[in-house]
Amino acid sequence: MCGIVGYVGEGDAGQILVKGLKRLEYRGYDSAGVALMNGEMLIQKGKGKVINLEKNLVASKITGKIGIGHTRWATHGEPNDINYHPHLSESGKIALVHNGIIENYTSLRKKLIERGRTFKSQTDTEIIAQLLEEIFTTSDISFEEALQLTLKQVVGTYGLAIVNIDEPERVYVARKGSPLLLGIGDGEMFIASDASPIVEYTNKVIYLDDGEMAIVTKDDYQVKTIEDVKLTKEIHELAMGIEEIEKAGYPHFMLKEIFEQPRSIADCLRGRLNTSDSTIQLGGLVNVMEELVSANRIVIAACGTSWHSGLVGEYLFEYLAKTPVEVEYASEFRYRDPLIGKGDVLLVISQSGETADTLAALREAKAKGATVLGICNVVGSTISRETDAGVFTHAGPEIGVASTKAFTAQVAVLTMMAIQLGQAKGHIDNARAAELINELDSIPKKVEHILNESDESIQEMAKLFTYAPNFLYLGRTYNFPVALEGALKLKEISYIHAEGYPAAEMKHGPIALIDDMMPVVVIAATDHTNDKMISNIEEVKARKGRIISIMNDGNSDVKDLSNFCVNIPSTIDCFTPLLTVIPLQLLSYYIAVNRGCNVDQPRNLAKSVTVE
Ligand code: AGP
Repeated sequence: MCGIVGYVGEGDAGQILVKGLKRLEYRGYDSAGVALMNGEMLIQKGKGKVINLEKNLVASKITGKIGIGHTRWATHGEPNDINYHPHLSESGKIALVHNGIIENYTSLRKKLIERGRTFKSQTDTEIIAQLLEEIFTTSDISFEEALQLTLKQVVGTYGLAIVNIDEPERVYVARKGSPLLLGIGDGEMFIASDASPIVEYTNKVIYLDDGEMAIVTKDDYQVKTIEDVKLTKEIHELAMGIEEIEKAGYPHFMLKEIFEQPRSIADCLRGRLNTSDSTIQLGGLVNVMEELVSANRIVIAACGTSWHSGLVGEYLFEYLAKTPVEVEYASEFRYRDPLIGKGDVLLVISQSGETADTLAALREAKAKGATVLGICNVVGSTISRETDAGVFTHAGPEIGVASTKAFTAQVAVLTMMAIQLGQAKGHIDNARAAELINELDSIPKKVEHILNESDESIQEMAKLFTYAPNFLYLGRTYNFPVALEGALKLKEISYIHAEGYPAAEMKHGPIALIDDMMPVVVIAATDHTNDKMISNIEEVKARKGRIISIMNDGNSDVKDLSNFCVNIPSTIDCFTPLLTVIPLQLLSYYIAVNRGCNVDQPRNLAKSVTVE
């Protein structure tokens, strides 16, 4: 998720753009850049936080009254000066900034190179600038028409702001899947990914919808579809202040990120699931498929929530690909002089890509000759750069310390990897692959269904458990790791002691804890262990435990035994963690809020543990 701003007016565009980018820094912060027009195209970029761009801009004395800006969350291409936005067409006359993912950028890039175009960056974004210039300069059409033709060739998502030095009074914008607003000022116009950069100048905004574009000048704007149908858009009045807007109206980043999961999972799957030929495309693994297929075993090393997604991965790889898997705490793995080497694959999982123990585990395994792969959310992070290969989760910046959307994105990647490996090893035929891939493609909608149907009831239920001294979470097979994850979510943001356990283990000790003060969360997603899970629930009930069941619609046996039920849509058993974790995230969030805890920045915790 990146941040886009634009300005046309009589003000100092550079200063206005930088200020706006600072408001959008929560959307991405591995680089920032602006393009200003002042008789010429002036580009200024900066690594990391926007303050670095600001320093470079002041030092360069670049000014202008029209321009576009971008703060980047890298999805394609390392965070380095070449990949920072804005991107220029080959002639340097067109500059653009982009938020989104272009799925067909590889094929478009290949065609443009065959037609003699040269590229500077590794990004998908640059394709748009180059294609736009080629269409515009080889046809006798307007720039606007060239943009429409360009966008019809692009597959994927975009929020775009574009300037053309030959039209120095205009900014072009277009939207498909990534939000864009126009702010209507007095003799000036603003463009942004959300209202936070605009609200201090004007409260009048227009929201572009998918498939729409606009031509913006300082006194006017024209919105139309990319089919050239003119539109009259409603002008809205902003009611929110800055703080709420950065959180898109949610009270906390964590709740925003919980509700982002339909989109973040869809972004993670985007361009990787081929439902037409029942295949999976993970570009980052193309060069290591042989090592994966021939691997003696896969060792997964991670910390915290990422360790939990690794545990789900163990079940997935063993069930779908018949590859033996061991899951290790990275901190334990690195100090055990691990027996790992050539023929083994170490897979590290890390949202931040900077966790010290996980990085150390990676280096240890690499030194011993293993093939090291990574699943990361931050492009250009240390772990992602030191692995032999890997897959990015594309979940977008996760600001809340408690990981939510990163977990489901990690599990989505692990699911795709396991299916792809199962196919490569001949354990999954086309029919089964079609079933798996079509069902995986439906998961974002099922997550959305849970969020829409259960949020309120979970918020109500949380009130009854706000002061519970302890919690027990029980799950089996794929949902045992989810029990661990649910317990971690609760304890790290509400400070209530909570334990996750394999349900069958309860009678080997934890059952002694159960009384009428002990809430027990049971993850009873209908699968081959449902009958056993019912027995576990009966054991809890017999000791007056209060039972909160996460269950499939219609599982009346579980419903009759439970004090509270949260229904989830049915899915293929091995995909249930993507659904069962959602109610647990919400439950922990609402209990923590009821307890007045600092949900986004819990005491003693950091978003990334870069020290041992
Ligand atoms: C999860 O909610 C925690 N914030 C923490 O356990 C986290 O998952 C762990 O520190 C690993 O971080 P990483 O994924 O960035 O490596």
